[in-house]
Amino acid sequence: MNILLLGSGGREHALAWKISQSPLLTKLYIAPGNPGTSKFGINLPLSLASFDGIKQSVLAYHIDMVVVGPEDPLVNGIHDYFLADPAIRHIPVIGPSKKAAMLEGSKDFAKQFMNRHAIPTAKHRTFSKQTVSEGVDFLHSLKAPYVLKADGLAAGKGVIICKTIGEAVEEFSNMLQDSKFGAASDKVVIEEFLSGIELSVFILTDGKSYLVLPEAKDYKKIGEGDTGPNTGGMGSVSPVPFADEQFMQKVEQRIIVPTMQGLISEGIEYKGFIFVGLISVHGDPYVIEYNCRLGDPETESVIPRLGNDLVQLFNAVAHQTIQAETIVVDPRVAATVMLVSKGYPGVYEKAKAITGEDLAAGSLVFHAGTALDAETGQLVSSGGRVLAVTSLGATMEEALAKSYQNISKIDFDGKNFRHDIGFDL
Ligand code: AMP
Ligand code: GLY
Repeated sequence: MNILLLGSGGREHALAWKISQSPLLTKLYIAPGNPGTSKFGINLPLSLASFDGIKQSVLAYHIDMVVVGPEDPLVNGIHDYFLADPAIRHIPVIGPSKKAAMLEGSKDFAKQFMNRHAIPTAKHRTFSKQTVSEGVDFLHSLKAPYVLKADGLAAGKGVIICKTIGEAVEEFSNMLQDSKFGAASDKVVIEEFLSGIELSVFILTDGKSYLVLPEAKDYKKIGEGDTGPNTGGMGSVSPVPFADEQFMQKVEQRIIVPTMQGLISEGIEYKGFIFVGLISVHGDPYVIEYNCRLGDPETESVIPRLGNDLVQLFNAVAHQTIQAETIVVDPRVAATVMLVSKGYPGVYEKAKAITGEDLAAGSLVFHAGTALDAETGQLVSSGGRVLAVTSLGATMEEALAKSYQNISKIDFDGKNFRHDIGFDL
């Protein structure tokens, strides 16, 4: 079968690498893809904002399945767009419906969903421009630190944690009254701060049943020891030692099962990945957020540990036969270290020549923000996160040592990375 994969980051390179190994695959197309994905298929220069453009390519290239990497097309309703068009409605889209993607697209929707289904999460209230003074009163009733969340999608930047009440009141007003995040902060969720260690859990569901993929831990801060501003993710590790059988049983009973039952009982169609961002508070899991897709850079650690034929699993999602599948997991540890541009996550440098990317023997190098120079064909940086280097090892130390050894062979001007991935495990 012919598959079209949407997206252009490290997550999509890892998915393209895995999909290309399937005997069920005839041809893989990636839109827009990157120089890394072009080794596993044909990159198509499509805009993910134009569903009509995607439809034209789906018909022209005889695509049999569409796999959606990032959240935007899902929140904008690509799944529903396909279902509504007789010419393409038979082509499965791996990724949830617009309503289901609201679990990521609206923090307020997600919170209300969790409340309806008694899924453990931080206590919260939602406010709008009309209820600013109630919001300020609510902030005063909480203890520091204060967690403010823009309701809508804000490119991963919509959560602000404030140490003092003064800062919290000012940010709250910036978000609602000065539209700090545009329409995304027309509503703001204020929630209780939870203290603990975070974990990413991934489910693949056909809307009736589900499989739990290997869990991962993401390192979001730019600085060593988890300091400084948040990034898209500086590295990841899978498995996560504290997520033992007992903890994962709690996750399944208290979070995954009620999430699935909630979706089914509310008639919300979900075919795709659910990413549950969790925090363990004294050994009890709480939901920090839902995402309607896989995580990045978690995918770069999770997918290399997956022993299954991913295309077979996607077919099972499409035909609602996931119940008959079993996840096969490589017991080795996967560790991913992200190489980023100088200045990231602030204003960063671009178009720096990358060398040694092909010398990383024994590791997988996934492209995140790379491009080919239009004149010379040289591989150059084109994003804040540039390359993800993943290695497998018998222990986390072994996997990390391999990744760091190979990183020393890869170079670009201003190359930055965290030297302490996995430090807290
Ligand atoms: P999100 O964009 O929802 O992933 O949130 C970004 C980060 O903010 C999370 O990864 C957590 O580190 C932190 N965070 C979000 N909600 C809370 C909370 N209720 N308590 C503590 N930390 C939180
Ligand atoms: N690594 C976190 C995310 O993909 O949202």
